[in-house]
Amino acid sequence: MIISSPLDFRDAARRRLPRFLFDYADGAAYAEETLRRNVSDLAGIALRQRVLKNVADIDLSTELFGQHRPLPIALGPVGISGMYARRGEVQAARAAHAVGIPFTLSTVSLCSLTEVTTATPGPTWFQLYVIRDRAFMRDLLATARARGAEALVFTVDMPVPGARYRDAHSGMSGPRGPMRRMMQAIGKPGWAWDVGLRGRPHLLGNLEPVLGKDSGLNDYIGWLGANFDPSISWDDLDWIRSEWKGPLIIKGILDPEDARAAAGIGANGIVVSNHGGRQLDGVLSSARALPGIADAVRGQLTVLADSGIRSGLDVVRMLALGAEGVLLGRAWLFALAARGEAGVAQMLDLFQREMRVAMALTGVRTIAEIDRSILA
Ligand code: GLV
Repeated sequence: MIISSPLDFRDAARRRLPRFLFDYADGAAYAEETLRRNVSDLAGIALRQRVLKNVADIDLSTELFGQHRPLPIALGPVGISGMYARRGEVQAARAAHAVGIPFTLSTVSLCSLTEVTTATPGPTWFQLYVIRDRAFMRDLLATARARGAEALVFTVDMPVPGARYRDAHSGMSGPRGPMRRMMQAIGKPGWAWDVGLRGRPHLLGNLEPVLGKDSGLNDYIGWLGANFDPSISWDDLDWIRSEWKGPLIIKGILDPEDARAAAGIGANGIVVSNHGGRQLDGVLSSARALPGIADAVRGQLTVLADSGIRSGLDVVRMLALGAEGVLLGRAWLFALAARGEAGVAQMLDLFQREMRVAMALTGVRTIAEIDRSILA
């Protein structure tokens, strides 16, 4: 199929993937209202069309956490993305690094941090979940330091997993899961050969020391539920802060009070996020939460945003609402599933073109110029 817009990757991914994987990526919590609002609230943000402002030279570069970057975009953490393409995390990281933007490796990825950083030396951020085994967390942080991770993205919005009913229906979780997943895989021979067979081992690479060689996808949902630590509080973040001297980014902030608390513990950044609508259905969209949060902590830390960004135009909208950069999740995952590294590269290219058009037609030439003044 011909891919000419970022949204086309979703259709291409649906054709290629077994249902349980497509639905795991595409779905969200409960009735998926917040997922829809993430997209529709952002799409509803109207921009001012401005003309004759000499937009011959548009510069998409910016500075994030002291580093000059060609784009205000990082690939955000997505669990088990190695199930979506062969050694998928490495492929996505290569595409990000070819452009010069950070790739964030999820704790629950197939490729370990060592595999990714060995394969591609560009900027890698490491995402950490709050898990019960603190000694293991310390080990993970030590690995992140040893492998040169540039920043730590600490996800705080999953003390318990949200109810993902699509996963129960698809066989991703629930009764007869393994058999149903196998039947679905047989129905997608392209995926089954390329990823199901040649993409092995299907282990959660970073967790192999605790899960052992036999664990992989079968343990995934169970592991998340059993090992996330719901007792975590801001006090615990003090020790993370003391263990990690580099940039610390707290992901999953949707309230100005929590944003102030993140600034209070000395975080360098936050990600305004509702986890792509995958946690509590009914919470605010990121687009609606963002302006109040940006006002609350402006100048104290770097505000990033995710959830609902489907195009370069949406990136510009998030920046206008107060973000200094964005993370992408489903956008790169579907591109990866559809076309591997080349798909992620094409997706990033399309986003850049869309950003340039949006900036030209709102009359701004630099990322720093994008603010509320371009909102209608
Ligand atoms: C894990 O972070 C998920 O959203 O499934």
